[in-house]
Amino acid sequence: MDTDALRSSIARRDALLAAASERARRYLSGVADRSVAPAQEAVSGLGRLDFELPDAGIDPFEVLGLLDEVGSPATVATAGPRYFGFVIGGTHPVAVASAWLLAAWDQNAALAVMSPVAGRLESVALRWIVELLGLPAATAGAFVSGATMANATCLAAARDAVLSRSGWDAAALGLVGAPPVTVVVGGEAHTTVHKALGLVGLGRDRALRLAVDEQGRIRPDDLPELSGPAIVCFQAGNVNSGASDPFVPLIAWAREQGAWVHVDGAFGLWAAACPDLAPEVAGVEGADSWATDAHKWLNTTYDCGIALVRDRDSLRQAMRADAAYLPPSDDRDPMHFTPQSSQRARGAEVWAVLAGLGRSGLADLVRRTVRLAQRFAEGARAGGFDVLNDVVLNQVVLAIGDDTRTDAVVAAVQREGTCWCGPTLWHGRRAIRISVSCWATMDADVDLSVEALIAAARAG
Ligand SMILES: Cc1ncc(COP(=O)(O)O)c(C=O)c1O
Repeated sequence: MDTDALRSSIARRDALLAAASERARRYLSGVADRSVAPAQEAVSGLGRLDFELPDAGIDPFEVLGLLDEVGSPATVATAGPRYFGFVIGGTHPVAVASAWLLAAWDQNAALAVMSPVAGRLESVALRWIVELLGLPAATAGAFVSGATMANATCLAAARDAVLSRSGWDAAALGLVGAPPVTVVVGGEAHTTVHKALGLVGLGRDRALRLAVDEQGRIRPDDLPELSGPAIVCFQAGNVNSGASDPFVPLIAWAREQGAWVHVDGAFGLWAAACPDLAPEVAGVEGADSWATDAHKWLNTTYDCGIALVRDRDSLRQAMRADAAYLPPSDDRDPMHFTPQSSQRARGAEVWAVLAGLGRSGLADLVRRTVRLAQRFAEGARAGGFDVLNDVVLNQVVLAIGDDTRTDAVVAAVQREGTCWCGPTLWHGRRAIRISVSCWATMDADVDLSVEALIAAARAG
């Protein structure tokens, strides 16, 4: 780019940002009224974006136009009120708006010296989260890309801590020659816990699996004796049923065994922020580490998980990085608590959403979505569906007739477009998984979606 072109780009920057804002607002204002799944023609049309990289760059307004005119129709309407797939919520307006401003700020949150504001907001957001979830006040935390990395971050801290108690410096020496670490998980541990165990060298498949009940909760009886360094992983919020492990007896057992207790609470941990639902995760504060997500139930933009560790030094020792050019600092430098160095200011967006919701707004978001999940289950049951789980959080598992019929209903509902929900397997039976996780979902959205399911079942 020559100097004149550069000057012209800078001069047109305001107009470009205004155009992006205009297009984004138009997109969001239509997102509740369109098919939740994109039309097949829109997906086929994506070929228009798949061209040889041009030698001379395309005018930025044209780039934006292509993204919006070709890309927007091919999106899945996860930002809308009737997306019930996976557990991925819809972005809260405060999150979208603050993410725009944060992109303009261009802050690298690795070090406080790179961005005092990002560092400060991250610390405040972590303090609020610890308070909201009722965790021990000294709990340290880190913002990472999602619950998968939050699990990996916590488990790396756990690995180093339990081995160090056995006199082995795992951070320095790795696992080659280390005393074996016993790992225990529930039979319904999320797949990303196994992935995270693999990433930190503890093996995807070598953990001892504890028996679970019909809701996917670990049975707190007949628990094994453990010896040597040990890590046990519990769960707040089963990805299908929403059920949480009985933490009080399980953590008491784990403590007797001298084990590190980790909890995967990607979405379920947020039940602790709602007084009516906190009993679902009673005792969870007794663990040593917790993984959760902001991009699920807290409705931030994606790429926002949170690792929380009771013992600050265990997290810092596992994640610290030293180099002559890095400033020695007593500040809380984020890069010494996370696997990554350079990082966007995730904590600043979480700060904005929490500030915008407040304590009662967050409790209301959790309470309301759980009530809507229960409404979904009641409507579906009245329409002839089997409800396969106790709807204790925001998750509903449905089935109708045999596996073939259930799968056909899922496919028909996705095609029809009123709502979107995905398939799963629950106790060997094909099922439909509904997750109500979006701030914008209202009773009418649930009712419309139940009608769509019933209509699909009748047509099939
Ligand atoms: C219980 C549980 N753990 C971990 C994850 C992984 O989260 P992420 O996609 O943020 O990495 C999920 C995602 O649904 C989950 O439900």
